[in-house]
Amino acid sequence: MDGISVREVTHENVDDLCRICVPPEKVTDPVFVTGVELKKEWAIGMLERWGTCAKLAYRGSTPVGMIQYWPVPEQRVIRIHCIYVPEEENWGKGIGTWLLSSLIGDVREPKDWFGGERPVALVTKTFPGESPGQYPARLFFRKKGFMQVGDDPDFLYYPLRPDFVYRPPEDGPEYISQEEDRGRAVFIYGPAPCPFAYVFLKRAERVVREVAPWLPVRWISAFTEPHEVEKRGGVRGCIVNARLIRSIPLDKPRFRQEVLRALEGAEDDF
Ligand SMILES: CC(C)(COP(=O)(O)OP(=O)(O)OC[C@H]1O[C@@H](n2cnc3c(N)ncnc32)[C@H](O)[C@@H]1OP(=O)(O)O)[C@@H](O)C(=O)NCCC(=O)NCCS
Repeated sequence: MDGISVREVTHENVDDLCRICVPPEKVTDPVFVTGVELKKEWAIGMLERWGTCAKLAYRGSTPVGMIQYWPVPEQRVIRIHCIYVPEEENWGKGIGTWLLSSLIGDVREPKDWFGGERPVALVTKTFPGESPGQYPARLFFRKKGFMQVGDDPDFLYYPLRPDFVYRPPEDGPEYISQEEDRGRAVFIYGPAPCPFAYVFLKRAERVVREVAPWLPVRWISAFTEPHEVEKRGGVRGCIVNARLIRSIPLDKPRFRQEVLRALEGAEDDF
């Protein structure tokens, strides 16, 4: 492809990775600035732990696409967190394909992460992050041969060994309910693979304040209060009246409804 190169993310170009998803008009917005800082914490942690976390596609020195991933040794798989080609002028030009093939090429080699073995699959859970008119990640991965895991059309895997069938383990961390979280909203944040994680959490706070202006709000940082995060099971996100809200504020009606359900009866306590 003309003028395009794919490079591994290292300490030298980690800032390109952290900024690539941020819309140009939001670069100086303080909420996005924090989102980018939290992503950098995450990326540096990954580079130190695994030596890798993403690949970037460049046109000259301009980053034009990324694929982000990490190894999961317990399952001997590579988890793809995200693939993204932000600018419309670059869509449909083979950049996404090149990023994915570059990752597949890499992981066909034996890896220290898996005790010198090859991984058995790539696994991903897509989310609807595409811009209007852009190709959704779910369709892209299906087109590239990924198969569905169970009933969830966003949960996909790509076997790297003939006849391998991926069987997912139990879900990740569970919120451990705390008495002190009753009758309040708690927002937990920390290093995150996506700068929008913090942006969405701020948006979640706005919606919670609209729905229940009387509700006290507490923010917990994984940096300054790790024990507070730990005792809640290590979860991140929005907790209302001691219940973890699973929907995201991108789907505002659903998010509001879940907040209202979590609050049933709580106002009477005040
Ligand atoms: C999915 C994505 C990475 C694809 O990147 P891309 O560089 O445009 O893709 P490519 O040019 O390599 O095309 C890959 C395949 O998809 C097909 N494709 C791409 N855009 C398409 C479209 N709009 N309609 C139909 N097919 C399309 C191509 O024809 C190609 O098919 P092939 O493998 O048979 O040749 C890009 O569209 C994207 O970033 N989408 C949003 C993903 C997202 O939400 N990420 C999270 C952001 S927070």
